Amino acid sequence: MLKTTFGQSKTGETISLYSFENAKQMKMVLTDFGAILTQLWVPDKEGNLKDVVLGFDTLAEYEVNPTYFGAIIGRSCNRIENGTFKINDISYQLKKNEGENSLHSGPEGYHLRIWKVIETTDNSITFKLDSPNGDQGYPGQLTLEVTYQLTETGIKITYTGHTDQTTIFNPTNHTYFNLNGHSSGTVLEHKLELKAQKFTPVIDSSSIPTGEIIAVKDTPMDFTTAKKVGVDIDSDYDQLNFTAGYDHNYILDKNIDYFVKMVGDKTNIVMKAATNLAGVQFYTGNFIDKLLGKENKLYQNHEGLCLETQFYPNSINETNFVSPILEKDEIRIYWTTYDFSIE
Ligand code: BGC
Repeated sequence: MLKTTFGQSKTGETISLYSFENAKQMKMVLTDFGAILTQLWVPDKEGNLKDVVLGFDTLAEYEVNPTYFGAIIGRSCNRIENGTFKINDISYQLKKNEGENSLHSGPEGYHLRIWKVIETTDNSITFKLDSPNGDQGYPGQLTLEVTYQLTETGIKITYTGHTDQTTIFNPTNHTYFNLNGHSSGTVLEHKLELKAQKFTPVIDSSSIPTGEIIAVKDTPMDFTTAKKVGVDIDSDYDQLNFTAGYDHNYILDKNIDYFVKMVGDKTNIVMKAATNLAGVQFYTGNFIDKLLGKENKLYQNHEGLCLETQFYPNSINETNFVSPILEKDEIRIYWTTYDFSIE
C-alpha cells in the first residue's frame, strides 16, 4: 500500500490517497474524502493498463462532485419520496435536494464526509464513519464501516452497519465504469448482460417508483440476453423517456453467481459483478452533461455507467418492496464484487 497526500480539504484537513496493486498489476486508488474510489487500473487485451472508472484529478472537485463519482452514498442511496418516512409511527423529514424528493440523502451526503481509516492491510482498507442521531434527518447513531479489498481478480466492497436506534441503512457505491478506459468516449457499444427479469418502473421524470414490479420481457429494459448498452436506449418507451436513458432499479434474479457481465468493445475487458443485495440501479450517466474529469477529459453523457447495488428506491415508503430498516443493535453486512478478465 502506498499512501500519498491528495490535498487540504476546505475545512483544513489533510486528505490522503491510498493505492494498492495486485499480481495482475491491477491497481485501485481510494481517498478518505467520501471513501471514494478514484482510480481502478485493469489490463486490456494487449496487457496495457486502463483506468476504467470516471473521476477527478483534484480534491477540490471531489468536494463538489455533482455526479457522485466513485463515492459511498449514505445513509440511504437513491430517492425517498418527499424526503419523508415513518419509523415506529414517528415521521422524519430529510432535506429535499431533487424537486420535492430526497436524492442520495440530501445535500450533506456521506460522499462529502471525511472518513476515518481504521485498518489497512496489503490489499485492503477500511473506512469508518460515525453518523450521529439526527444526521441528515435520520434517527439513530449509525456506525458505518466500508472495506475495499483488491482481490486477485478485482475489487470487493463490504459495508457493515450498526445503529443504536431503528433506522434506514441503504448504502451503495456510485462508481461510473467505462471498460474502454475513462477517457474513451461513451459506453453505448459495451455489451451488457443483466440477470434481472424484473424492474421497478417510475411514475415520471422524478424517478419515484410506482411501487409495481414488472417484467423486462418484450421491453427495451431487457438485458437478460447480452446486448449493446445503446441498442435500445433511444426507444420511444415511457420509462426511458422519463429518465433520458437507463436510470432504473432492476431486481436481481435469485441463485445467480453474478448479476452483470459487461464487455468493453475496444479493450475486451470483461467485468462481472455479484452482490448479496436484491437490487441494482442501472444508470447510464444520462446527466453527466459536460464535466471536466481526470486528465482534462471533458466527460459527456453516457461516458460511464453505474451499477449501484441497493435496496429498491423509496423502499421505506413502499410496502411492496423489501424494507431497508436496520434494527437497534443489529449488525448488517452487505457486499458487492466487481471482477475483471479478458474475453
Ligand atoms: C440516480 C440518477 C442521478 C445520479 C446522480 C443515480 O443514482 O439514479 O438519477 O442523476 O445518481 O449522479
